[in-house]
Parts: sequence; C-alpha cells; structure tokens
Amino acid sequence: MRILLLGSGGRESALAWKISKSPKVEKLYIAPGNGGTDAYGENLQLSPLDFPAVEKTVKDLGIDMIVVGNEDPLVAGITDYFQGKDVLVVGPTKAGAELEGSKDVAKAFMTRHGIPTARYRSFTADTLEEGYNFLETLKAPYVLKADGLAAGKGVLIIDSLDEAKKALAEMLGGMFGQSSATVVIEEFLSGIECSVFVLTDGNGGYRILPVAKDYKRIGEGDTGLNTGGMGAVSPVPFADETFMAKVEERIILPTINGLIEEGRLYRGFIFLGLINVEGEPMVIEYNVRMGDPETEAVMPRIDSDIVPLLEAAARGDLADLPLKHSPLAAATVIAVSGGYPEAYEKGKTVKGLDNAACESLIFHAGTKKEGDSIVTSGGRVIAVTSLAATLPEALEKSYRSLSGITFDGMAYRRDIGRDVTSAK
Ligand code: AMP
Ligand code: GLY
Repeated sequence: MRILLLGSGGRESALAWKISKSPKVEKLYIAPGNGGTDAYGENLQLSPLDFPAVEKTVKDLGIDMIVVGNEDPLVAGITDYFQGKDVLVVGPTKAGAELEGSKDVAKAFMTRHGIPTARYRSFTADTLEEGYNFLETLKAPYVLKADGLAAGKGVLIIDSLDEAKKALAEMLGGMFGQSSATVVIEEFLSGIECSVFVLTDGNGGYRILPVAKDYKRIGEGDTGLNTGGMGAVSPVPFADETFMAKVEERIILPTINGLIEEGRLYRGFIFLGLINVEGEPMVIEYNVRMGDPETEAVMPRIDSDIVPLLEAAARGDLADLPLKHSPLAAATVIAVSGGYPEAYEKGKTVKGLDNAACESLIFHAGTKKEGDSIVTSGGRVIAVTSLAATLPEALEKSYRSLSGITFDGMAYRRDIGRDVTSAK
C-alpha cells in the first residue's frame, strides 16, 4: 500500500514511525514532513491545504490512502474533496470536522445528544449585552472561547467579571479575526484532564486507543503561558476501568451515534478532551485528529499493526480488527526553543540525537535538515518518548535521554507526569 501522510509535527513523526513498521506499506510519503520524518519515508514539498496539488501527487505517485495529521485540511474539506476519487482518506468530512472547527456547533451537538459538558451560551456582536448578562449569572473564573480555529489560543480563562466583559467585547470585535465573531461562554469545570482517542469507521465501528494526558503550560506546576504541549504520558492512572466505562457509555457511543444520525460522515480519529470532575467525565472539547504531543506517547503503546486499522476505518468497516494496547507505560517530554511560546530564534544546531535514540524514541517536530545537520525550525523541536514497565521508569529514561541532547536555548519541563505518578 502507498500512503501519503499530511503534516509536519511531532504527531506526524510518531504516526510515520508507526505506519512505517507495517509490512503492508510499500511506500510512505510525508508532506511536508520535517527533519526527522525522512527516516520513515520520503518527504514531499507539498502544502496539505492545496487540494489540487495533493490530488496531482496522489495520481502521480499512485497513493492508495491519505492520512490527515492536522485539523486545517479536514475543516477545509479535504475528505469531501477526495470522495469518489479512488483514494482512501483517514479523517472526517467537513460536516464531521465541525466538531473542532466550531465550538458552537460542538456544544450544540453535545446538548442534542445528552453528552456531559459545561453549561454554555454563544454570543455575537449583536448579542453583546446578553453576553454580559450571562457572565453575571456565572461564578468566576469565566471561560470564553472563540468559536472557530485559533491555533490553540482561542480560549481565555479570566478571574474578574469586569475583565471577562472587556474580553468578550474585544473577542467579538475581532481579537481572533473571524474565529471570534461568535464566542462561547461556559461554566468553569474543576478537575484533572485527559485525552481519549477513538478511531471510528463512520458505520458505528470504533476502537479506543490508549488514554494519554498532556501538559499544556510552559512552566512547571502548570504555570505560565499555554503551549502546543510540553509532554505527555500514557496510560493515565485515574482513567481506570470504571472511569472509561462511563466515558464509553456517556460520551463515545452518543458521539458516534450522533454523528451518524446527523449525517456527518466521520472515518478517522476523534479526540475527546475530557475532564474528570469528581469521577464523572465531561467533555471540554472535541478535536478531529490525534493530539500532539499525545500521539508521541500513544503510538508506541499500540501493539497492533496500525495500517489495517486505518485502512478499515477509511473504508467504513473496522469489523473485528484488534487494536491491542501495550502493557508498557510511555512518557514523552518535549524540548522547546528558548523563549517559546513567545518569540524564539530558529536555526540552532541540535546535537546528541543519535545517542539519545539508544534508549528512547526520538520524534522530530520543529526541525529541518541543513546539510548533515539537524537545525531547529519551530517552537517545539524534539519529542523524546520512552517505554518502561512503569510511568516513573519511563519518565526517568526520557529525562536521561534528554540530558544528552543540546541546542542553543533548549528548554523543557522537568515535572512531566509528576501529578499522576505521585497521586496515589
Ligand atoms: P480548549 O481549546 O477548548 O481545549 O481549551 C483549552 C484549555 O482551557 C483546556 O485544555 C482546559 O484546560 C481549559 N478549559 C477549557 N474549557 C474549560 C472549562 N469549561 N473549565 C475549565 N477549564 C477549561
Ligand atoms: N495536545 C492537545 C492538542 O493536540 O490539541
């Protein structure tokens, strides 16, 4: 099988690594890929958002299946574009991708299907006064979300009512451009978060992947600015059998059935951003792809060949194919550029990767090749994942490997996994 994987981050490195292990793969292409993905296949200079160019590549290279890594092409309708064009696509249609593309659509969907989530209302510039009134009915902190895609930056959590009102007016006035023309205001939920991934075939078939937890803030102890993700662990100790049974019954099944009922064709990964509120799972958000950096911890914990699963999901028939979870624990720590998530420099030479690869999996994110060197080209640079019998051991291995990697300005969090490994 000839596969084209779209994307360029650590998530795509982990997907490419996993896909490349399959005996079913004749050739893997990654577009555009990064400085490490060419270890698993061939990088192509191609924009995932340029559908006619992707189509030409599919024809020229005889691609059998496209795996879409990030949300932008899905929300823009890549799956619809290729319908009836003799290539399988892993990823929902535009109607399915609205679960991530519009928080207002996602919240209304959850309400229609009785899926537990925070109480909310949506507002536009015309209903600003009503927005102020709704804020007054809520307790601090106030959660304001831009309706559309905002590169992970569209959620504001604000302590004071006055500041929240000001932020609402600014958001509706274009703080996030068209993405915040509608703003969702919701109740603040208190609890610990985890990420649940489901591969579904659009016909009611699904498999649950290993559960992960990511660490979004730049600073230790979950402080400072939000980032794309500073690390991840899998499994998540609190996501035990009892919790997951509730997730499956109250969230996964109604989501999958709701998508079918509403004619939102969905053959791909559903990412449930969940929060555990005193043992009860609630949905914080849907994404329509795998998570980053969760994928870097989840893929190494899948013991089954992923390619038949992807193919079956894209065909609409997962049937009884197994998705076997590894009993090992995985810990991923991300090395970032100094200054990230604010301004940072690029082009720093990364050293020590070969040595680190002896004990850990090294997934490139913001890197590129320059001659024989690997240089930084993004904020999140390298994901280091280790597997071990327990999470503390996996974390120790990742930190040991990281200590041998260097680049100018390199930073990483030293407390990944600490919250779930010390909580007994
Ligand atoms: P989102 O982009 O929707 O994932 O939101 C970003 C982050 O904001 C989430 O990962 C949560 O940590 C936080 N968040 C979002 N909604 C809520 C909520 N209703 N209550 C508490 N925290 C929230
Ligand atoms: N790790 C969160 C995300 O991928 O959106």
